[in-house]
Amino acid sequence: MYVEINDENNWLKHYKSIIVPRPIGWITSLSSDNVVNLAPYSFYNAISTTPPMVVIGPGGYSKSGLNKDTLVNIENTKQFVCNFVNWELRDVMNLSSYSYNKNESEPDKLNIQLEDSIQVKVPRVKLSPAHFECELYKIVELPSDSKGNPNHIIIGNIIGINIDDSMLNEDKVDISKLKPIARMGYDDYALINTIFTMDRPR
Ligand SMILES: Cc1cc2nc3c(=O)[nH]c(=O)nc-3n(C[C@H](O)[C@H](O)[C@H](O)COP(=O)(O)O)c2cc1C
Repeated sequence: MYVEINDENNWLKHYKSIIVPRPIGWITSLSSDNVVNLAPYSFYNAISTTPPMVVIGPGGYSKSGLNKDTLVNIENTKQFVCNFVNWELRDVMNLSSYSYNKNESEPDKLNIQLEDSIQVKVPRVKLSPAHFECELYKIVELPSDSKGNPNHIIIGNIIGINIDDSMLNEDKVDISKLKPIARMGYDDYALINTIFTMDRPR
């Protein structure tokens, strides 16, 4: 099968079901009125080692017809936190993807407890076992789709990493404790249950 990218066919489902598994960045950000926003993004990844940087890809509009709150907030306040999503947080993460009004806070609506971050003003999700505290590096506008829906990428510098000590085995993160979930195609998600090691050619 060869699928050309055009308006007539169903390329989107193939695209999203092949570039898997995608990590989920559960992003807290603050509006200029100090409303805490929380939303999951699976166009999310690490993009460099030194300095450590992440990318998030908001696409389309929120229900209000404006750019997504995460994008607007980070553009205004230049900070965000990537909260780690594990198995236990899967349902509440999913509920937080609902498009609430700009002045409504997902953590308030869904009773998600927050706590202060160490270096940024944006709070983090208390039950999340790991957090990246980030400062905005750059927002890049990507081409819109044929209907005019916008696409952007947000690139951020990670300035601090918080890891719950209970997730560690000696000094290493224990994946069997962290239990990350990842986004697959359709409405599917994955849990990691097999890990293997390979030496790199030197
Ligand atoms: C697991 C998951 C991953 C998502 N990934 C993205 C994404 O990468 N880009 C995007 O624009 N929306 C994504 N969404 C949808 C947003 O979470 C949703 O539009 C949300 O309302 C945006 O919230 P905000 O306006 O508060 O930023 C995802 C939803 C889920 C459940």
